[in-house]
This record gives sequence, structure tokens and C-alpha cells, in this order.
Amino acid sequence: MAGAALLAPERAGAVDWAKVPEKSITLFYPAQISWDRLFTPGRHSGQRRYPEKTCVGCHGDIDEGPLGDSLVDAEKDKEPAPIAGKPPFVKAKVKTAHENGQLLVRHEFDPGKQPKVPMDKEFETKVTMILDDGGVKEAKQAGCWLTCHSDVESMRWSVPGTTKYLSDTRIPKSGGDVIKSPEELAKMRAAGNFLEYWQARINPGKPAVAVDGTILEKRAAHEKPAVKVTSTVTKGVYTVIFSRALDAGPDYKKIVPDKKYTVGFAIHAGNTSQRFHYVSFERSLMLDGIEGVADLLAPGSSAGTGR
Ligand code: HEC
Repeated sequence: MAGAALLAPERAGAVDWAKVPEKSITLFYPAQISWDRLFTPGRHSGQRRYPEKTCVGCHGDIDEGPLGDSLVDAEKDKEPAPIAGKPPFVKAKVKTAHENGQLLVRHEFDPGKQPKVPMDKEFETKVTMILDDGGVKEAKQAGCWLTCHSDVESMRWSVPGTTKYLSDTRIPKSGGDVIKSPEELAKMRAAGNFLEYWQARINPGKPAVAVDGTILEKRAAHEKPAVKVTSTVTKGVYTVIFSRALDAGPDYKKIVPDKKYTVGFAIHAGNTSQRFHYVSFERSLMLDGIEGVADLLAPGSSAGTGR
């Protein structure tokens, strides 16, 4: 029954996914390796050549598996609460397309044998994407890591109630805890200095729930999401399709041709929440992109549907 109900939106989109180029992206378990930790002197040899070299530039398509392997049961200093039997990484096949004024993002992945933990009691799995259009400094070089700080709840110096945020919303040298004035934050928001996020909340066999919002001084969901999502699970393989209007109004990034966007992905599997997810390095997306220019090429209807 669920299968029949979920077929309709795919047809309505009319995208022939078989014809859309696929990007294989490995998401890995990051333990408590926050932005702050990576940039603590002596902690991460990558910091010396960043941002001239990006995270993907050094690690992309090579290190994700090994990083997951070492971090999923790393020493206490990096992972104080390992989950026994947790797979170290998840491979996703990601496809993007645009059709009828909508951007579609399709994920297909097998999370493997996931130990269930009593963290998220409502949803078994969550798939999340962040999106930037150049409005956030360094998003192009660092993706999701820009939002990952050690004072975020469940991280090393966890402050209850602190969600993902951008460093630029904090007063420099305040130790990370003094948030800029509402006027300054409003200016940043108006200038587009925020990240957008999309999330699919999934329980296999039930319709997925869509959530979207922004990350500036905190993560904030829109009351009514512009993003739509469908999800099916067949033989352990999850297929999740996000769609949203290229122009979804204020507080959303406008998706236009000839512009490169940055995206990053996360998967929470096995009823996990907060930091206990798999993450990707930053990836690029472009409408009607060409091979070599962007990772995700989002062809339009003619390429996507074979018309
Ligand atoms: C110039 C190359 C380079 C760049 C750029 C780089 N890294 Fe690294 N990274 C390394 C090397 C080498 C290691 C392993 C040794 C170490 O930690 O110094 C590493 C280790 C890591 C680890 C494991 C850390 C640990 O303590 O186990 C993570 C996670 C990581 N990098 C994420 C990132 C992210 C996120 C970025 C972008 C903000 C980034 N790296 C940029 C080279 C780089």
C-alpha cells in the first residue's frame, strides 16, 4: 500500500532517475571532531593548508571510510560514548535534477545493520542536507563543519539547548558564547549569511515527514516547510527524494542557473539523534552542471526525462 501511495509523487515529477548521473558519496561517523577541535593548534595537520585547500580537497572520496573506521570507536578524547556495533560509514548514491521549477535531490543508501539506541523515539532514520549559495563565508571550503562546535549539545563541552550555529554570529574572542545583537543577526539574515537545511524524518512503511529551516545563530525550523519529501525502503535500501521550488520565497536560497551551490549531507540511522550521525564533506551542486564543474549536476527535464 505504501508503495503505491509513494509512486505518485515520483511520476508527477516525471524525472527518469535512471538517466540522471549519480554521485557516490560516503558519509562517515565523525565522533566529536568539531570545527573548534580541527582548528586547535597541533590537533589537525590539515589546518595549515586550509582554506587554500578544502576539506574535500584533502579527504574527498578517499578518507571517508578510514576516518569512520577510526572514529566510530576512537579513544575517549574523541568518542566518549561509542555505540557498540555501529557501522563506521554509509555509502549513498546521490542524484539531483530539476523539473517544473523544482529542485529534486535523491538519496539511495543501505545503512547496514544498525544497532538501535534509545535517542530519537519518534523516528528511526533522518536524512539531512545543508545548502549554501555563497552567502556564508567558507561554506564552499568546509560545508557542515562550519556549524559544528564543541559547545553544541552532545558535543565535548555540551551546553544544553545549543544547536548548530555559525561562528560569525558570535562576538569574536568571547569564547564562543556571546551571541551578536538581534540587529546584527537580522542584518546577516537579510544579507543571506545563513545556511538552509532540509530534513526527511523516516519510519519505514510510513510517509516521511519534511522539515526545513535555517542555521544562523541557531538551528531554526520553518513553521511550514517548503520542502517535500518521499521515502521508500526496499530490502534495507532507503530511497529518499527531496523537492522544493527553485524560488521558495524569503528565508530560502534562490536556486538559479549558472551558479554553484554547496551542499553537505547527514544521515541519522538506528534512532540516533544529535551528533551520533554520519556526515559528508562539502559537495557542489549546479543546475544543468557539466562533469568536472560540480559534483551534482541537476539536469533539467530534457536530460532528466529523455524527452
Ligand atoms: C591539507 C590537507 C587537509 C585539509 C585541507 C583538511 N584535512 Fe582533515 N586531516 C588531514 C590529515 C593529514 C589528517 C590526519 C592526521 C591529523 O589529524 O593531522 C586529517 C584528519 C582529519 C580528521 C580526523 C581527526 C582526528 O582527530 O581523528 C577529520 C575529522 C578531518 N581531518 C576533517 C577535516 C575537515 C572537516 C576539513 C575541512 C575543514 C579538513 N579535515 C581539512 C588533512 C587535511
